[in-house]
Order: sequence, then C-alpha cells, then structure tokens
Amino acid sequence: MLVCCWSVKGGSGTSVVAAGAAVATSRRQAFDVLLVDLAGDQPAVLGVAEPDGPGVADWLATAGPLAPDALRRLEVPLTERLSLLPRGAGPLDGHRADLLTSLLLDDRRTVVVDAGVLPSPAWPQQSTGGAEGRVAVAEGMATSAAMSLLVTRACYLSLRRATSCAVRPSGVVVLSEGWRALGPDDVTDVLGVPVVGELPVVGEVARCVDAGLMLSRLPRILERAVCGVG
Ligand SMILES: Nc1ncnc2c1ncn2[C@@H]1O[C@H](COP(=O)(O)OP(=O)(O)O)[C@@H](O)[C@H]1O
Ligand SMILES: [Mg+2]
Repeated sequence: MLVCCWSVKGGSGTSVVAAGAAVATSRRQAFDVLLVDLAGDQPAVLGVAEPDGPGVADWLATAGPLAPDALRRLEVPLTERLSLLPRGAGPLDGHRADLLTSLLLDDRRTVVVDAGVLPSPAWPQQSTGGAEGRVAVAEGMATSAAMSLLVTRACYLSLRRATSCAVRPSGVVVLSEGWRALGPDDVTDVLGVPVVGELPVVGEVARCVDAGLMLSRLPRILERAVCGVG
C-alpha cells in the first residue's frame, strides 16, 4: 500500500505526519514499512544520523540500466520493521518517475512517501521554482497512491492553493490550531475530500521533533492523528 503525504505550502507538517505515520504503522501492524524521503528532512525529523550514502536522487540520476535490487540496496534500516529510503544528493531527475512509482506500488510493504510541496498552477510565483524533476516524481506518486494525503493547516492561503493543485487528494490531515477561523469541516467543504486525521499544533510535538525523539518516543497525540493511515 502506497501512502503519499504532500502539502501545498512549506511548514505545513508534512514531514512530521509522514514520519509519524511510518513509525506508528511499523509498530501497529505485522507488516514492514518503508519511508521514502523525497524532501530530505526525514533523518532530522526522526532524529537519526544523516545517511552519507546514495539515495533516491542518485538512483533517479543513474544513466543506463539499473539492477533490479538497486533501489532496495539504498535503504537504511531504522528499526526491525522500518526502513528509510533516503533522498540522496542533487536534484531529483523526473525521467524515471514512473518507474520509481511503479516499483513502490508493487512493494509488499506499507510505503509512506514524504513528497514535500506540490505546485499550485494558479500561484506559480510562489511555487516550487526550478524543481521540475522533483515535482514530476512527487505528483506521480501523489496521483497513484492508494492514500494521497494533503497535509495542511486550516488556513485560507493553503486552502486556496490546494484548490488549484493538479493533484486531488483522497484525504486530508489537518494540523489544527485553536485560534483559526477555519476548522476541519471547512477544509472538507472547500476541498470536497474527507479529513482522515486531525493533529493539534502543540508544544509536545514540536519539542519531540526538535529533540530528535520521534523514532523512540512518538507522541500519543501524533499516533492518534495518523491511526487512519497505512
Ligand atoms: N502538530 C505539531 N505541533 C507543533 N509543531 C509542529 C507540529 N507538526 C509540525 N510541527 C513543526 O512545524 C514545523 C514544520 O513541520 P514540517 O513537518 O517540517 O513541515 P513541512 O514538511 O510541511 O514543511 C517543524 O518545526 C515541526 O516541528
Ligand atoms: Mg517537509
């Protein structure tokens, strides 16, 4: 099962939700989980050492034929059930985007992708300038995933971008902030897709990420927010 987490604006909580979903699923189920990092923040979010070997960017950039197990060899085991496919160095080349997506779709594990920000064509100047390859890879995965999850705050600026995004999510994870005029019901009304998780913005989650404790001490509030994922 391919789960793709993406946003339309940086700072939405995408990497935290993807990491939380991967860690929680690897604990909850008797299945293995692969976390695919297209945005590059996962080692820092999880609090693990920055992998110094090649990653998915290097696999995408490889000229010529690839060994069938080339992608698998890039994985870094994090726990008994959870592995990380690191981003690697350099830009993401979009030419093998479809092959990457189909390999991950065929994977027997639960695959959680941190796809980062997808562009909103109505606001190209605020978009993901110069990152066409990453966008091709990220949009391909977000379009094909069994669960395509938009991670967003319930704010007007994010929602208006989401309405112009080329990808329609299958569900939304809302980071709820008590002081907002808009709430999860408004998100569903505007986007026409269900809210599958609600994660309060609280100091406990921010401190856990800042301290690098996501892998060892996943906050219950985050575990609950992603219980419908995976
Ligand atoms: N539920 C939350 N409560 C408090 N802080 C959060 C929460 N989720 C994310 N953050 C913080 O918000 C910032 C952006 O989160 P991140 O996951 O990196 O967003 P994105 O990947 O969408 O850019 C980080 O500092 C992170 O620790
Ligand atoms: Mg991120």
